[in-house]
Amino acid sequence: MSVFDASLLPRSATIDAAGRLSVGGRDVGALAEEFGTPLYLYDEAELRGRCREYRAGFPGGVAYASKAFLCGAMVRLVDEEGLDLDVATGGELALALAAGFPASRIVMHGNNKSVAELRDAVRADIRHVVLDSVDELDRIEALVRSESLPSARLLVRVNPGVDAHTHEYLATGTVDSKFGFGLESGAALRVVEHIAASNVVTFDGLHAHIGSQIFRPEGFEAALQRLVALVAEIETTVGIEVGELSLGGGLGVRYLATDDPPSIARHAAGVHEQFGAALAAHGVRSRPALTTEPGRSIAGPAGLTIYRVGTVKEVPGIRTYVSVDGGISDNPRPALYGAGYETFVPTRVTADRTRIVTIAGKHCEQGDLLVRDAAVPADLAVGDLLVTPCTGAYGHAMASNYNAALRPAVVFVRDGDARLVVRRETVDDLLARDLFGRLDPV
Ligand SMILES: Cc1ncc(COP(=O)(O)O)c(C=O)c1O
Repeated sequence: MSVFDASLLPRSATIDAAGRLSVGGRDVGALAEEFGTPLYLYDEAELRGRCREYRAGFPGGVAYASKAFLCGAMVRLVDEEGLDLDVATGGELALALAAGFPASRIVMHGNNKSVAELRDAVRADIRHVVLDSVDELDRIEALVRSESLPSARLLVRVNPGVDAHTHEYLATGTVDSKFGFGLESGAALRVVEHIAASNVVTFDGLHAHIGSQIFRPEGFEAALQRLVALVAEIETTVGIEVGELSLGGGLGVRYLATDDPPSIARHAAGVHEQFGAALAAHGVRSRPALTTEPGRSIAGPAGLTIYRVGTVKEVPGIRTYVSVDGGISDNPRPALYGAGYETFVPTRVTADRTRIVTIAGKHCEQGDLLVRDAAVPADLAVGDLLVTPCTGAYGHAMASNYNAALRPAVVFVRDGDARLVVRRETVDDLLARDLFGRLDPV
């Protein structure tokens, strides 16, 4: 017997005596009827609760990493909760500004920011551009000089050369990484020296992001030790103070019942302790603000994806494929990283799950499998709903139009209200960008 572990559900979830799931005071089966499937559903209480836990844990500052999940409503929520916002492209910046987010609380990342992206960021006078290369520094200085833009405030992205103990595609802080300035090579110190001598850019601090979906503290500790050693070196050799030290994001979440990441509060307490120890060990005079930039651990556990079962096909002696109406186009993580998910039927959450099947998407790839070896009720049938929990991060954000799929709608639920915040894509949306080449006969 295997019953779905309800502790994977967001905080406002309730299950009635008949086993029907509600989130934010709304019946999930009824929401699927009202808004259609596939559907991304977000528990606003979970999103806000996680923002607040981060603010409490990191008084130095928190920037929500919008790459995890971005839409106008999320930008407004992050603003209301008092977090800063991390964007990584001109598109993310444009969406944030269009939603009314104050530029003075935006930080911009990217290992290959274009001149246009940098111009938009510097013109808007955002809080920080996180510098990732010498080429980028040249571009910023040339822009500021030639277009008389405000002087740009920079954080320097450092590649601390540490192993984050996560999937190789999610590790960004090892020596072999496309991100940031190397420590051991001396590149990080050299660029700080250059900025300190410049009259068009200013140095505000250091940044490192070692990876994502991290459960263990060792990677953060090693990164902090190395960054604080660099702070000490900057103080003594360059003679300037380091105002901020951003540890990036990376805290992991529970996709599976067996996953056991630390809570936000425990993670925050742990890195502050490590930070204090590193400052003491390196005899650092300045007290940089320790900031963080979480994405997954704010948005992930707040989101559910609701699908409808379309076919059930048994391959005798091998497996049963249960195909749903979405897949790799709304959640590429299983195909990209072999990521695992749980699944359950939201209209009978407490049912015994005695049958093992494979939940497949509807796309033209054999690898389009959402959940391998999923436990489902024995009577699962065509027309039933299936939910994958903890899909609030890097699902909507990584969704594609593969097979000309129409990307799902996004609904926020809270206190009995359901708000459509991103409408479902339409065929007209798809056709709008296609110029159809030459249609005239030749
Ligand atoms: C620079 C930077 N900051 C923050 C994040 C957010 O990471 P996570 O979603 O694991 O918290 C990422 C993710 O790729 C990132 O690249």
